[in-house]
Amino acid sequence: MDKFIVHGGVRLTGSVAISGAKNASLALMPACLLTNGALTLKNTPNNRDLGTMSRLLGSMGVGMSLEGDMLTLDSTSITSYEAPYEHVKQMRASIYVLGPLIARYGEARVSLPGGCNFGPRPVDLHLKGLEKLGAEIDVTGGYIIAKCPRLQGAHFHFDISSVGASVNILSAAVLARGQTTLTNVAIEPEVTNLALMLEQMGAKISGIGTTTLEIEGVDSLNPVVASTIPDRIEAATFMLVAAMTRGDVTLTHVIPEHLDAVTQKLIDTGALVDVSDDTIRVRMLETPEAVDITASIYPGFPTDTQAQWAAYMLTAQGASRIRDTIYPTRFGYVPELQRLGAHIETGEGYCVVKGNNKLTGATVMSSDLRASASLVMAGLVAQGTTEILRVYHLDRGYEKLESKLGALGAVIERHPTEDY
Ligand code: UD1
Repeated sequence: MDKFIVHGGVRLTGSVAISGAKNASLALMPACLLTNGALTLKNTPNNRDLGTMSRLLGSMGVGMSLEGDMLTLDSTSITSYEAPYEHVKQMRASIYVLGPLIARYGEARVSLPGGCNFGPRPVDLHLKGLEKLGAEIDVTGGYIIAKCPRLQGAHFHFDISSVGASVNILSAAVLARGQTTLTNVAIEPEVTNLALMLEQMGAKISGIGTTTLEIEGVDSLNPVVASTIPDRIEAATFMLVAAMTRGDVTLTHVIPEHLDAVTQKLIDTGALVDVSDDTIRVRMLETPEAVDITASIYPGFPTDTQAQWAAYMLTAQGASRIRDTIYPTRFGYVPELQRLGAHIETGEGYCVVKGNNKLTGATVMSSDLRASASLVMAGLVAQGTTEILRVYHLDRGYEKLESKLGALGAVIERHPTEDY
């Protein structure tokens, strides 16, 4: 178990290359189960969640090799159709193997994910969608047991826009017999990244990038070389940390369009944001204005960036309201920020961050991945040093965060610790 010691008071400057998107990789990797032969994914990030997905696929017999950021997956010799609890409990996205397994092998046994640190996260839509495609599903002993010799195309409407359920059902429908229509599909860039790769593999999908997908099932898919999109959440974190430290940071390897909601809000606070084809430069010369945000589905402000926004707003002039319509209880970071001296009030589905906080270093505890990022950000502007425990949460989704921030001038030490 590692902890960070963050030294506050440094203005960040320089340039940082953004890694491939964790959440896109997690959707792309299980698609190796849909084809025989080697599926190669470029721009694969290196973080703990990707390690968990690799171990899960490896336990099923998928062969893997990694050269730099190029990951090759080969499911030719798959030996098991099971995602055991030991993997799923570490990462909910393990459930992404369900759709490909049932579609290609006709059976799957996948542990139920269980609870989560920022509220209930059911998987009912994943199961309803597969049932609609003809799968017989039994939930017993903590496991989802799905069977169906060949899925059959159907119309399925997602009652709630869900990234995960869209990934799972799309991954299954491409091999179903006949026509599938999916409506209210999530249009987050990670879902589109998957749809485009499936199309490259030979899937017949129309409407990619919209909320309605028409899929004509095919009998088999081909292995391809595909690319993972840049991580918009890592990018957003660096944009906010640049502004928060009154810095001047250029992000490279980004798709600026994916960050429009964050960019606009950042500009509203007074930051100078210069956007080119694949770079974004953020400069902040003054005290930010307080700006409210509401986290919602894409292209809205991402829920995975609301904790970082709250941290940024600690240094703003005035109070800002932060709402989360996707995870209304995702404010577990508030008591930890309060330990650093933050003035934040919480209500149902929102918090209000009072500006002009004088933060002072203290020991705090990460409660989830993005909450950890908000603590690092607060630590970077706090007086003195901040000790952040349980940074394994952070390692789930950020690749070498302390090194990347270090290259911009931050002083962050990583230490092993017995503290839990
Ligand atoms: C994904 C992201 C996560 C992000 C979230 C919202 C990955 C690996 N994770 O999570 O980082 O915070 O999208 O952008 O990509 N829901 C149901 N039933 C279901 C599925 C979801 O009610 O079967 C609800 C959830 O409780 C939530 C909403 O739908 O309120 C959206 O969740 P969803 O988009 O599914 O999130 P994840 O895919 O789990």
